[in-house]
Amino acid sequence: MYDFKTVIDRRHTNSLKWDVGADELPMWVADMDFQTAPEIIEALQKKATFGIFGYEEPDEAYFESVANWYQQQHGFRPEPDWMIFSNGVVPAISSIIRRLTNAGDNIVVQAPVYDIFYHSIENNGRHTLSNDLVYDEKALTYQIDFADLEVKLAEPLTSLMILCNPHNPIGHVWSREDLVRVAQLCLNNHVILLSDEIHGDLTAAGHDYTPIFSLPAALRANTIACVSPSKTFNVAALHTSTVIVPDENLRNSVSRGLNNDEIAEPNSFALVAAKAAYNQGAPWLAALKQQLARNRKIVAEFLATELPELKLVPAEATYLLWLECTDFCQDSAKLAEYIRWETGLYLSEEAVYRGNGADFLRLNIACPERELQDGLHRLQRAIHQYEKESV
Ligand SMILES: Cc1ncc(COP(=O)(O)O)c(C=O)c1O
Repeated sequence: MYDFKTVIDRRHTNSLKWDVGADELPMWVADMDFQTAPEIIEALQKKATFGIFGYEEPDEAYFESVANWYQQQHGFRPEPDWMIFSNGVVPAISSIIRRLTNAGDNIVVQAPVYDIFYHSIENNGRHTLSNDLVYDEKALTYQIDFADLEVKLAEPLTSLMILCNPHNPIGHVWSREDLVRVAQLCLNNHVILLSDEIHGDLTAAGHDYTPIFSLPAALRANTIACVSPSKTFNVAALHTSTVIVPDENLRNSVSRGLNNDEIAEPNSFALVAAKAAYNQGAPWLAALKQQLARNRKIVAEFLATELPELKLVPAEATYLLWLECTDFCQDSAKLAEYIRWETGLYLSEEAVYRGNGADFLRLNIACPERELQDGLHRLQRAIHQYEKESV
């Protein structure tokens, strides 16, 4: 019923992802090559036809749609009163950093992690303190080092922790038990816990994610969650997100920061798109998840037979695959550059995620199968050539 097969030419459409050379194939930034849900397109068309694009404010129906979505998809209904509209997750994170912490403070993250966290922290004059995730080379999984986390949260200058739940780029869905432990440690140390949950809807079957605001009341009172339809429905440039802050005092403070930074008002298309997504988008999302599951399987099978030297970290969420390349390369940034130069396949620069990011390539698989096959064959060609040249 929904089309995830047609390859759509996105060149010359101002697409950040597709601003590449004629023969290049971009599989880097977290942006899908699928059209969004037809229900969203229809709502946007109606709005465009209406033709008046004056100032807007989020209405109750918007916040209700977010609350209902979390109830239906994730089994917990956040109160609409807890929510604040914002123009995006990253703008909200930067604003929260400025409002709730001081220049020179420490902000804890867990490397390897979404590189823009570092920009938000360091461009605002705060220090990044990483509670590096611990990698198990045999199991190809990551775990939290809780002893180290406790030490870093206890440092006098630590005022905020930014969690990525589920975690980009490793594709891990944190368990409820892990989240409770992290939230309790933050609470014990008077460190506010900011949870970026932008990838929460894109989980693989059997790996449902736990929203941070669904934790027990005492814990969630010390948390802020950022959610958005932008990854789920491929509507990033509509600049729509919701900041969920259960505690009233903390919410007032966050709200003042967002308003002070002038990032709490929607553009003309934000609310209609988000409401259509949350109210009518569930069947499309279910179909998308099936396509992503097929794509994960295609990659896993291809790597097992054609490129066993690349090890795939089991992906529980996101459409970004994390591929370990240490068997033949110690510097994945150089390797990614080589792959692009040799074959035009454009992957992210993995060292930017810090931690052990330099041991990995990140591959965006949210594209039609034909494009994915093209990407995999380019990857195979480049790596075989690289190995030949390295001996
Ligand atoms: C973890 C994470 N947070 C935030 C964003 C971007 O959020 P926004 O476009 O709403 O600023 C991304 C995009 O890749 C992401 O992976």
